[in-house]
Amino acid sequence: MKTLVIGSGGREHALAWRLRKSPSVTKVYASPGNPGISQVAECLSTGDYLDLAERIRPDLTVVGPEAPLVAGIVDRFRARGLAIVGPTAANAALEGSKVHSKRFMQKLGVPTARFEIAESPQAALDALRAFRYPVVLKTDGLAAGKGVIIAGNPAEATAAIASLACPLVIEEFLEGEELSFIVLADGTRAVPFEPSQDHKRVFDGDQGPNTGGMGAYSDSLLLSAAERDRIMDTIVNPVVRATGFTGFLYAGLMMTPDGPSVLEFNVRLGDPETQPLMMRLESDWGEVLLAAARGSLGTDQLQWSGEPATCVVLASAGYPGAYESGKPIRGLDAVRSATVFHAGTSERNGETVTAGGRVLGVTARGADLAASIATAYAACSAISFEGMQYRKDIGQKGLRRYNKDQSSITSGT
Ligand code: AMP
Ligand code: GLY
Repeated sequence: MKTLVIGSGGREHALAWRLRKSPSVTKVYASPGNPGISQVAECLSTGDYLDLAERIRPDLTVVGPEAPLVAGIVDRFRARGLAIVGPTAANAALEGSKVHSKRFMQKLGVPTARFEIAESPQAALDALRAFRYPVVLKTDGLAAGKGVIIAGNPAEATAAIASLACPLVIEEFLEGEELSFIVLADGTRAVPFEPSQDHKRVFDGDQGPNTGGMGAYSDSLLLSAAERDRIMDTIVNPVVRATGFTGFLYAGLMMTPDGPSVLEFNVRLGDPETQPLMMRLESDWGEVLLAAARGSLGTDQLQWSGEPATCVVLASAGYPGAYESGKPIRGLDAVRSATVFHAGTSERNGETVTAGGRVLGVTARGADLAASIATAYAACSAISFEGMQYRKDIGQKGLRRYNKDQSSITSGT
């Protein structure tokens, strides 16, 4: 089958890379793609995705980023009889509007932080009285990770209200481990992916501002079967039943002492979570996606390697603030044991140069989490560009957790 991947980042490189390995897939197109994606797919630029699809007639299209989904690409493709994986515009509002998403969760009884909606700055200031600190303030629409402020005291909250566009969601701060729980749904059934964890802050030890994600790992040990079933029963299945959801539903969860609670829904795959997930996927990805697009997804259709995988993001100096582009990248050809997914790169006179905040996602599998981390970092040290920065502690939280579990098992507590 001929497939088309929409998007141009590390997530889309991993999607295209995995499709290229699928026995059922004969051709991978990507639009607009990037220099890494062009190693596994034919990259096509276009003003309009529907025009492009009508020209190349893919058997299946899969969408990476949220913006085209919120803009209704799935509705437009379906209206022309083109198979596509993703939610309708109406369902994409679960990510596109935090106000809608919170009200919807409340209506369905899906566990999420207690909240108030404020339509004006004054209403937001009034609503603060009902919350303890820290308090979380979120602007309604898509904000590329910049629409959430955690305020530690009333002065910070007042400043946050002045800086965020209304309506605002004001919600209680939850404590616990964050987890990315992603499912693929076909309108009636949802099949869970292996669990993964992102690292959103720019610096080691979760310090500094939020980013799109500085690295991620996927390991089955992150979640017990009982915890997974609870998330499916209390969160995913109610949403899929109520919406007829199609595509990827990504629940950003806080694993609180009272159980999993939804921080946010995304209606697409995570970036960089997709990179380690695609390294662990063993099923024919093209067949899985086609079944999802046709509404005939089998519950046993997703097979995973037991080996964990880790992705370390190499970013430009200054990211997530202002950064420079056009820095030549060295060492890409020297990497053997890891897979380097391109996020923000471009080609200049036959040379690969930086072209984004997140530049590369160096991803490796290993016999255990520690081995996958070591292999990914060994490959990172072979790559260089001016100003390259990356976190040195991707996956360490997972290792610490397993060590704690081990010591409580051996000490009998
Ligand atoms: P969101 O875009 O809603 O996922 O928020 C971005 C980040 O802010 C999350 O990944 C969390 O780290 C943090 N966050 C959001 N909501 C809460 C909350 N209610 N309690 C604690 N942290 C939160
Ligand atoms: N890795 C976080 C996201 O894709 O939203």
